[in-house]
Amino acid sequence: MSDPTAGGLENLLSEDRRFAPSPEFAAQANATADLYSWANADRPAFWAEQARELLSWSTPFEQVLDWSDAPVARWFADGTLNAAYNAVDRHVEAGDGDRVALHFEGEGGDTRTLTYADLQREVAKAANALGKLGVGTGDRVAIYLPLIPEAVVTMLACARIGAPHSVVFGGFSAEALYSRIVDAEAKLVVTADGGYRRGAASALKPAVDEALAKGETTVEHVLVVKRTGQDTDWTDGRDVWWADVVDTASDEHEPVAVEAEHPLFILYTSGTTGKPKGIFHTTGGYLTQAAYTHLNVFDLKPETDVYWCTADIGWVTGHTYVVYGPLVNGATQVIYEGTPDTPHRGRWWEIVQKYGVTILYTAPTAIRTCMKWGEEIPAGFDLSSLRVLGSVGEPINPEAWMWYRRVIGGDRTPIVDTWWQTETGAIMISPLPGVTEAKPGSAQVPLPGIAADVVDDEAHPVPDGGGGYLVIREPWPSMLRGIWGDLERYKDTYWSRFDGLYFAGDGAKKDADGDIWLLGRVDDVMNVSGHRLSTTEIESALVSHPWVAEAAVVGASDETTGQAVVAFVILRGDAGGGDQSADEVQTTLRNHVAKEIGPIAKPRQILVVAELPKTRSGKIMRRLLRDVAEHREVGDATTLADSSVMDLIAQGLAAPG
Ligand code: WTA
Repeated sequence: MSDPTAGGLENLLSEDRRFAPSPEFAAQANATADLYSWANADRPAFWAEQARELLSWSTPFEQVLDWSDAPVARWFADGTLNAAYNAVDRHVEAGDGDRVALHFEGEGGDTRTLTYADLQREVAKAANALGKLGVGTGDRVAIYLPLIPEAVVTMLACARIGAPHSVVFGGFSAEALYSRIVDAEAKLVVTADGGYRRGAASALKPAVDEALAKGETTVEHVLVVKRTGQDTDWTDGRDVWWADVVDTASDEHEPVAVEAEHPLFILYTSGTTGKPKGIFHTTGGYLTQAAYTHLNVFDLKPETDVYWCTADIGWVTGHTYVVYGPLVNGATQVIYEGTPDTPHRGRWWEIVQKYGVTILYTAPTAIRTCMKWGEEIPAGFDLSSLRVLGSVGEPINPEAWMWYRRVIGGDRTPIVDTWWQTETGAIMISPLPGVTEAKPGSAQVPLPGIAADVVDDEAHPVPDGGGGYLVIREPWPSMLRGIWGDLERYKDTYWSRFDGLYFAGDGAKKDADGDIWLLGRVDDVMNVSGHRLSTTEIESALVSHPWVAEAAVVGASDETTGQAVVAFVILRGDAGGGDQSADEVQTTLRNHVAKEIGPIAKPRQILVVAELPKTRSGKIMRRLLRDVAEHREVGDATTLADSSVMDLIAQGLAAPG
C-alpha cells in the first residue's frame, strides 16, 4: 500500500482562502448548524427521524439499526416501502403531478419534458411490460442504455416490482457487460439500438448481442429502445422492441411494497483485483440517505429549483443524484445525453441558460477541461440562475475550485465538494452550504449522522495536522450491504484492514481545524476523469493480447483527467509483438484494452520495456514506474531484486523509436 499522504500535500497545506456563506444564503438554507448536535446526540434516532420525514412507508418501521451481524447492517428492517412509489406516485398524489420531473436534452437538440404524472404513467407501463417478459420480484435486470428518459423509467420500473437493477455503463465493452450479466444472473437486458455521442449515432445493441454470444447466460429477453433508428440484428423470440411491449402496456400498476432490506440495485465497480465487485444496496436506508443528502447538501427547494447532475446513470452518482435522490425529493431536473463539446464547447452553459439551472453537480475533470477551453466560453451565456455548485469523483484542486466559483458561480455561489463512493451509496463528507465556511480543495466535514475519521497504520486517530487513512467508524443507512454473492470478499476488502472500522481506500489528512482533505487512493485503484479503474484489471486485459508477456499499469497524474493510465509492457519476441513499430504496439494494445474493458480504460501511453522492476518476492514496484511516468527522478530502488532494471527502463525510454 502506498504512502497515503504522498503527493499534493504541500500545496494543500498552504491553502488559506476561506469563503463564509452569505447571510442571505444562510437565512434560507435547508441545513442549519444544529443538525450536527442533533445527530451526535443519538445517531440512529437521527436517521430514523430522517427516514420517517423523507420517505413514505407502506409499513412503518419500529426497528432502527441492527448491527448484531456486523459488518452487514440492517436499517429499518421491519418496515416496507416501494422506491418508485416514493420517487414518483406520491408526488402525483400530493397534487404535484404537473411539476416537471425531467427536462431531457438529446445531444442532437431533441428534447422531451416529463412531468411527474407522465413519469408515473411511463414507469407503470414499463413495470407491466417487465412482468409480461417474466421478470418478477427479486429477479435481476441488466440495463445498458444511453442517458435517455427510458433509462430512468427502466430503473424505476425495476424498483416498482422489486427487481434489482444492474446498470452497466454504455461505454463498457461486450466482455465487461457479459461478466456483469453472468455475475448478477440477469434475466433481462434492457438496451437501445444506439445513442448519440460526439455528433454521431453510436451503436449499443451489437455489444449486447456479442455479450450474449460469449456463453450460456440466464437472459431470457432483450428489451430494445429505438433511439437512433440504426439497423440492428434481431434474435426472434429473444429480442423485443420497447414500442411493442411498453408503449402498449397498461399505465396502471400497483407498486410492490418490499422490505427495507430488499436489494434495490447492484453496481459493479473496480477493486484492487481484476474482477469487478458487484456492490449492492438495499431500499430503505439507501433512499433515506439519498434524499437527506440531496436536500441538505444541495439546499434543494423542489418547487423552484432546476437541478442538473451531469453524471451518467452508469455510475453511482447517476443512481443517487440523478434518479433516486432528486426524484424522491420531488425535484425538477435536467438530463443531457451527450458530451460537453457537441456541437460546441459552450453546450453545457447553453443548457444552464436554457433551463435556468440553479444547482449544478459535476466532476473536477469537467471543470478543468472547461478551464482549458477558456473562460470566454461560459462568459457567453447567462449563468446567473446558478445558486449552488457541487463537485464529486476525485479531489478538486484549489485552482479548479476557485475557477468554478468565480467563472461559473459568478463569485457568489457556495461550492460543495462531496466525498463518497459507490460503496457508501450517498454523500458522506461535504460542507453544508449556508453553514460551513468553505475551503477550496477540501471536503471538510463528515455530514451530520456520519462518523468519519483519519487514522494511522495502527488505527489511531491522527492529530490535527496529520495524515493517514480515511475510515468510517459507525454504520450509516446507505452503506453497501455486501458484494453480490461474495460476503467474504466484502469483509476482507473493507473490514479487515482496521478492526471494526470501514476502510475506504483513500488517503486523507486533517488540517489544523480538524477538517478533512482527501488525497486520492492508497490502493491499486486509479481515478481517471472521476472514473474508477483497477490497475490489475487493465494489466489482465493487456496480457490477454498475444503480443504481451507481462504488463504493469500505473495511474500517473494528469492535468485534466486527474490521473491517466500509463502501461509498461514486455513484449513476447516469439509472437510477432517484437516485430512491430512502437506506434503499432501503442495503437493495437490501446484498442485491445478498449475492446476488453471499454474506451475509458485505454492507456494514455504504453511503454515497451525489457524488464519490470520487482522486489525479491516478485511484487512489481509500481511506485518506481509512477516516477518514470510522471517524469520524476526515480525514488529509492534498493529493495529491487535487480537494481539495474530501472536504468534499463530509463535508457530504453530515452532511446529513439
Ligand atoms: C474518489 C464516486 C476526493 C475517492 C462518487 C473515492 C473523491 C472514489 C471525491 C469513489 C471527492 C470521490 N474528493 N476524492 N470529493 N469523491 N472521490 O465509487 O478516491 O466512482 O474512493 O464513487 O472517488 O469513486 P466511485
